[in-house]
Amino acid sequence: MIFGTLKLMKEVLKIDSRDEMIELGRCIGELAYPNLLLTLNGDLGAGKTTLTKGIAIGLGITKIVSSPTFTIMKVYEGRLTLYHLDVYRIDDSSSDFELEEYFEDDGVCVVEWAENVSDLLPKERIDIDIKDLGDDKRILTIEASDNKNIELIDELIKRFNK
Ligand SMILES: Nc1ncnc2c1ncn2[C@@H]1O[C@H](COP(=O)(O)OP(=O)(O)O)[C@@H](O)[C@H]1O
Ligand SMILES: [Mg+2]
Repeated sequence: MIFGTLKLMKEVLKIDSRDEMIELGRCIGELAYPNLLLTLNGDLGAGKTTLTKGIAIGLGITKIVSSPTFTIMKVYEGRLTLYHLDVYRIDDSSSDFELEEYFEDDGVCVVEWAENVSDLLPKERIDIDIKDLGDDKRILTIEASDNKNIELIDELIKRFNK
């Protein structure tokens, strides 16, 4: 359990290289639907921004995605609009940053360090936790608790099928 919400679906994936992480992201981008919210947690350098680069490719975005750590949010136009947020410097009790408006848009919202704003997150979302095992190896835990996102994870596992 993360954020105190009951998770009905949990998949664990082993990723062996940066290219594989990009490929997984690309699959997510292809399966993304309007209003999808993805949260990415994991230490600095785990690969949250790298996964987001793949998601952007899957959405048909040709611009290079870079970390929004200092700007909090970057917006990219693709098949769906990508809102890429990094809330490393935000904490939900003190912030007046209007996160919710991005969750409600018809785009895809990817939030790095989402655990910092856990109080603001709707339960319809996909949570991805990335653990760095050293070298280029990563373990991803992908979770959801609502039907639409459980279905997306199912499709993702089939599509990625490495
Ligand atoms: N399997 C992997 N997945 C993601 N990134 C990897 C992987 N192997 C090596 N890397 C490298 O690790 C770094 C991850 O950085 P980044 O994606 O910015 O992390 P974060 O956004 O979590 O701080 C990049 O330099 C990337 O090239
Ligand atoms: Mg990052």
